[in-house]
Amino acid sequence: MLNIALFGPPGSGKGTQSKLLLEKYELEYISTGDMLRDQILRQTSLGITARDLIEKGQLVPDELVVQLLEEHLTANSDANGFLFDGFPRTLVQSYILEGLLLKLNTSLTCMISLDVHQEELTRRLLERATIQGRADDAEHVILERFKEYAVKTLPVVEFYESRGMYFSIDGRGTTEKVFEKVENIIDSVVKESSQNVVLIGRPGSGKGTQGEMFAKKHNFHYISTGGLLLNEIEEKTEIGKSIKTLYENGISVADETIIKMVETEISGIHGNRGFIFKGFPRTLVQTYILEGMLRRLNTSVSLVVYLDVPMLECFKRLSRRSQTDEGRPYDKNTDLIIGRMEEFETKINAVVKYFKKQNKLVRVNGTGTPKEVAAQLDEILLRSLKKTRRI
Ligand code: AP5
Ligand code: MG
Repeated sequence: MLNIALFGPPGSGKGTQSKLLLEKYELEYISTGDMLRDQILRQTSLGITARDLIEKGQLVPDELVVQLLEEHLTANSDANGFLFDGFPRTLVQSYILEGLLLKLNTSLTCMISLDVHQEELTRRLLERATIQGRADDAEHVILERFKEYAVKTLPVVEFYESRGMYFSIDGRGTTEKVFEKVENIIDSVVKESSQNVVLIGRPGSGKGTQGEMFAKKHNFHYISTGGLLLNEIEEKTEIGKSIKTLYENGISVADETIIKMVETEISGIHGNRGFIFKGFPRTLVQTYILEGMLRRLNTSVSLVVYLDVPMLECFKRLSRRSQTDEGRPYDKNTDLIIGRMEEFETKINAVVKYFKKQNKLVRVNGTGTPKEVAAQLDEILLRSLKKTRRI
């Protein structure tokens, strides 16, 4: 999950930047200010208490804010991530947020503070008052909001600074310029903290089934070179036309072609926890190339899972698959299957050795039902990834 908190004094542009962030990263928006204004509009008892405080420019008690928040977080636990606007704004709220996210097995990715000096803030808010007419945008209330911010909200900075999650940027300049800085921070934090998994195993060992399930469940971006090749063929691209015969006969496609496809696929992906590669790298050359590509993105291979299934069982699975709609052209006869097995056995040892040396290889027993294997994979992967997580 990508969880971002926007921080800053009243008028610093949190709401304005939020709109752009939501569009780019498809996050669930949590603005405690908006939630409170909604309660006021609906005249709930919480809203009635909040109204008096907001109109005076004071913070609403932590207990009330948390009530609104917890429900919303739990109801959206399957979101890509959350964008917090105006929360946490007390030290207590910072601890609460940490606990709530932990319950969802996640944590804050980063807090981004928008720094703007007070005269500019006041000017912005007074101008907004003429457009939106927010009750707390009157001059004497604005001053009270600044005071509350200095006393109760600023201590939050140290909490996140000490955890290495706090980033501050100059919030002056056009909205677009500020947004550029915000997205640069997010992209670099995501890259630094992203984790990439490689799934290897014999043809028929269940890499595709497991990889897709794991990616979906844990917000990884799934990359199957076989799938990418098939796309090219189906869309009759130049690459597609040149590889059709090789693909259908289970013969390896040239490294250059695979690399070009993977490179296109991994650029321009945002907001995932990382990539899960299936069927790539298959050779030592491809291993070096993958490491290079990831390094350029400021990241690396975190873990390699060898899905262990005996050869005979793989044969049985592939032969079964060939009799269904899922059957691949290269499953259609024994010679093709033997060819692919041989190719795998001869090339993969060098890859295995390479990652073993780096202590990145784990073996997972791939026999058993897909559900049983997935449970095992979940446990092993999540445990190992936690250990390798850099921030
Ligand atoms: P909330 O609604 O969160 O208000 P706030 O923190 O005071 O912030 P604002 O919404 O006023 O400013 P903003 O940073 O979003 O700036 P915006 O993008 O609108 O909270 C309201 C009240 O609710 C609080 O006072 C408190 O009582 C209560 N509350 C809320 N959450 C709470 C919590 N967690 N705990 C306790 N109490 C809580 O921009 C401002 C203006 O500037 C706009 O007109 C905009 O168009 C303009 N602008 C934006 N960017 C730029 C730019 N780069 N250049 C020029 N103009 C710009
Ligand atoms: Mg706002």
